[in-house]
Amino acid sequence: MTKKLIVANWKMNPANRKEARRLFRAVKKGVKKTKNAEVVACLPFVYLPMLKGLSLGAQDIFYEKQGAFTGEVSPLMLTDLEVKYVIVGHSERRMYFGETDEIINKKIKAALSAKLKPIFCVGESIGEDKAIILEKQITKGLKSISNATLRGVRLASSKFQISNLIIAYEPVWAIGTGNNCSVDETMSSMLLIRKIISKLYGKKSASAAKVIYGGSVDSENADSYLHETGIDGLLVGVASLDAEEFIKIVSSA
Ligand code: PGA
Repeated sequence: MTKKLIVANWKMNPANRKEARRLFRAVKKGVKKTKNAEVVACLPFVYLPMLKGLSLGAQDIFYEKQGAFTGEVSPLMLTDLEVKYVIVGHSERRMYFGETDEIINKKIKAALSAKLKPIFCVGESIGEDKAIILEKQITKGLKSISNATLRGVRLASSKFQISNLIIAYEPVWAIGTGNNCSVDETMSSMLLIRKIISKLYGKKSASAAKVIYGGSVDSENADSYLHETGIDGLLVGVASLDAEEFIKIVSSA
């Protein structure tokens, strides 16, 4: 059985190092014996160098290696901190920071080239046509991502393996609202996503791609997603800030 991926997205929390340490330690202790899941903690940049013992992820990156880009953090700075994953294209970044599909595409390329695994977020807003939005976001986000083109990216060259890319289906209306997407609807979205991947990379890649769900996941509903073989894991926001709640989610894997 392949391990489920349970990703904590702390967003811009908690407010200080003391609380960050306390939360991280409690989670680490609580998931120590977990065998069926890989737990990834996506922390604010400032907490990444001080916390060890779970797979680490960042919540964003910039697409250049180094240089005059005030305020930005490069993929190489993250790999130097032993960070393995990076969230790219979260709806909050699209919404509040003007991230376009083109910027997201550059960030995914830069992440892959630096051997970071991107957690590429896609999903429709309320009232939008899901099939059209997913097709647009995925096709543009993965534009010219293949072994050949990645060798042309300015960072270290690396092989593109579909298993190094995680797609997170996060309908915008489900994020932080308590209104999680039903398992049936999530499954049908995952099918749509795999169809798009199949068009881009072939059938084999479509089944090898990791697709996870995010949006108001908690300890009550986590179980129902994790029992579906087509759902490879969960991306957890609010509920990841409560150690007890998050540990319960992980244990349902
Ligand atoms: P939520 O956030 O679990 O608080 O809905 C999920 C996310 O934004 O990744």
